[in-house]
Amino acid sequence: MAHYISRGTIPEKRHTQFRNAAGKLYSEELVSTEGFSSDYSLLYHIHPPTRILQTDLPAAIDIRIAEEKMLKHRSFDGFKLIAQDDYLNSRKPILVNKDVHISLAAPKQSLTRYFYKNADADELIFVHEGNGKITTVYGELEFGYGDYIHIPRGTIYQVQFEKETNRLFIVESFSPIRYPKKYVSRYGQLLENSPYCERDMRTPVFTEARDETGDFLVRIKKQGMLYGIHYGNHPFDVVGWDGCCYPYIFSIHNFEPITGRVHQPPPVHITFEGNNFVVCSFVPRLFDYHPLSIPVPYNHSNIDSDELLYYVDGNFMSRENVTKGMMTLHPAGIPHGPHPGTVEKSLGAKETRELAVMVDTFHPLSLTDTALAIENAGYTTSWNH
Ligand SMILES: [Fe+2]
Repeated sequence: MAHYISRGTIPEKRHTQFRNAAGKLYSEELVSTEGFSSDYSLLYHIHPPTRILQTDLPAAIDIRIAEEKMLKHRSFDGFKLIAQDDYLNSRKPILVNKDVHISLAAPKQSLTRYFYKNADADELIFVHEGNGKITTVYGELEFGYGDYIHIPRGTIYQVQFEKETNRLFIVESFSPIRYPKKYVSRYGQLLENSPYCERDMRTPVFTEARDETGDFLVRIKKQGMLYGIHYGNHPFDVVGWDGCCYPYIFSIHNFEPITGRVHQPPPVHITFEGNNFVVCSFVPRLFDYHPLSIPVPYNHSNIDSDELLYYVDGNFMSRENVTKGMMTLHPAGIPHGPHPGTVEKSLGAKETRELAVMVDTFHPLSLTDTALAIENAGYTTSWNH
């Protein structure tokens, strides 16, 4: 889904001899997606990326489902999640189904002692709090508040945080994360009516190849297990690469809202999509300008999608008692709508400063034990007053 870019030094023709100044061949690696049938990148390593020294015993990643099925409106206080030192330990799945795992994380320490690769899922990491740098085999990406970091599955990476106070909202997708199809031309360019364009995407800044020999541990997530594989060379020993499979960043602050005379439906907020889910951005915008418009949304019967809203910042016109980091889940099967009094209160309002991320899944989400631990009681009946 990303566009073609090239970094570092690559040979004129793919799959041909490419040597360093001393005449030694570089080691070409094809990173392909959807078999050989979709986007790919070609990387040129100083050493073969296959030199395994040893493997560790695998460890199971514990996801405890507390409620596999349910039919209630729920609310969770994401900032109640307790911070943890280690990046991987800090990531706690909250809501899961077979298409996506939605996690929260409050990591205190940088991920530099080992490398990480998610072999199962694309990761979309929304940075709510924190600044830092992701380093990958493709180069570096600096991140901060409001960034969506898309890391395609199979990307080896590390993370450096500037401080210990970090809050992340993470969507793991078991299908490739893409720009919405409706915003992409037949030939792959983002269309004129898209709420963002190629210029809004930050791509990896290439860094010099790490020609280092030693013991480099890559912890790899696959099928709910974490495998430790020790390599004999630094994974970032790439002198150049090109292609369309690479991590990039899109800031929610660069999403240009689509507004209208009357209330616009949620699809105008779609930012990314995968199989059976979409990710939407709600950003500060002018409200509807019909003289009799009602700024807050209508009641909504979502008969075939669970709706998860993650509140980032600003005021939320249609909800009471909303705080930063709160999540609400409105499941398919029962209608949801504005809290009592918020419709009247919204009349005449000209703009909203709300900032939120929404994930709509077309299959129901299950709740983990962590979800129950951070749940706000009483939300289900909070319309009854
Ligand atoms: Fe809705």
